[in-house]
Amino acid sequence: MKQFGATIVGTGSYTPERILTNHDLEQMVDTSDEWIQARTGIRERHIAAPQQATSDLAFEAAKSALAQAGCRADDIDLIIVATISPDRPFPNTACFLQKKLGADQAACFSLEAACSGFVYALQVAASLIRTGAHRRALVVGAEKISMFVDWQDRNTCVLFGDGAGAVVLEATTPESDIFLAANMGADGSYAELLTVPAGGSQMPPSRQAIEAKKQYLKMEGREVFKLAVNAMVESAKSVMREAGLESSQLRWLIPHQANTRIIQAVGKRLAVPEANVFMNLDKYGNTSAATIPICLDQLNRGGHLTRGDYVLMVAFGGGLTWGASLLRWPGTEP
Ligand SMILES: CC(C)(COP(=O)(O)OP(=O)(O)OC[C@H]1O[C@@H](n2cnc3c(N)ncnc32)[C@H](O)[C@@H]1OP(=O)(O)O)[C@@H](O)C(=O)NCCC(=O)NCCS
Repeated sequence: MKQFGATIVGTGSYTPERILTNHDLEQMVDTSDEWIQARTGIRERHIAAPQQATSDLAFEAAKSALAQAGCRADDIDLIIVATISPDRPFPNTACFLQKKLGADQAACFSLEAACSGFVYALQVAASLIRTGAHRRALVVGAEKISMFVDWQDRNTCVLFGDGAGAVVLEATTPESDIFLAANMGADGSYAELLTVPAGGSQMPPSRQAIEAKKQYLKMEGREVFKLAVNAMVESAKSVMREAGLESSQLRWLIPHQANTRIIQAVGKRLAVPEANVFMNLDKYGNTSAATIPICLDQLNRGGHLTRGDYVLMVAFGGGLTWGASLLRWPGTEP
């Protein structure tokens, strides 16, 4: 039996000031605004300043989530930062964020599941709250993914952007638990399809690695595309089955924002009307683990979420990893 339930009491997000448009990219690689819009749906993306680390982006999003939750940083007893672009190999990015916030009562760790990271982190935090081990958690997806981008590779440089999103989770009664169903999956046999080869223990940073551009993100776009659609559809179906919900009951489907064509294919296969599928990638590109919490915050602050709304978040990313989380929005009555 569950001791507690978990609920969301605040959301926040942040994207860096600098905007890189498709027209800017036309000056950098052999591409065009038409190609990028038609093949991906992206028009512009935000890029962090050189001195901004991932924890700086996380800090802005976290401050805003804490303010909405009406709680102080030292009310937080757990911080999880989902990221694949950490400030350093160690200490973990959540520790840097903790210091910036002054959240000195929190246990801190980072979670590395690429674009699925936030959905994974949410499930981990909700589970820890349900056991009673933690009472108030800050869950952040934050990425300075531009650190991995080869600005001479047109296959990848048009796709990504930087940003951060955060939620504050709080313990509640089991009856008020908003998380109806969740799943997480992975298939490491596809690791090479989307990866940064150098910089870890397998290939530590070296002059040879840098000369061979191994510190940059490599991707087999077409393969990833097909796998992304299937994994997101299956993951989403599985949580709806578990919760006993039909896709027609969803107020919002929030899919990971990598490509409009992927999102449309997922929406269609799940039979979710376009009006209920949230999309913002035209302005942000793929911000990896930051994508879903940024979307959630925009819906929340835009007044598009009402108490009782069913919201299904579904993600896919390097690993390969995938995951979905279905919740009933807590908010106040309209
Ligand atoms: C990357 C992606 C946009 C490419 O679109 P696509 O329709 O699959 O395009 P293709 O890979 O078939 O490439 C078509 C052509 O466009 C070219 N091309 C690639 N990037 C280009 C760009 N930025 N501008 C112009 N042409 C480009 C390719 O070189 C290729 O040319 P060729 O046929 O002469 O070799 C798409 O495959 C995709 O979004 N994949 C999933 C990526 C993803 O989701 N990643 C993150 C997962 S979390």
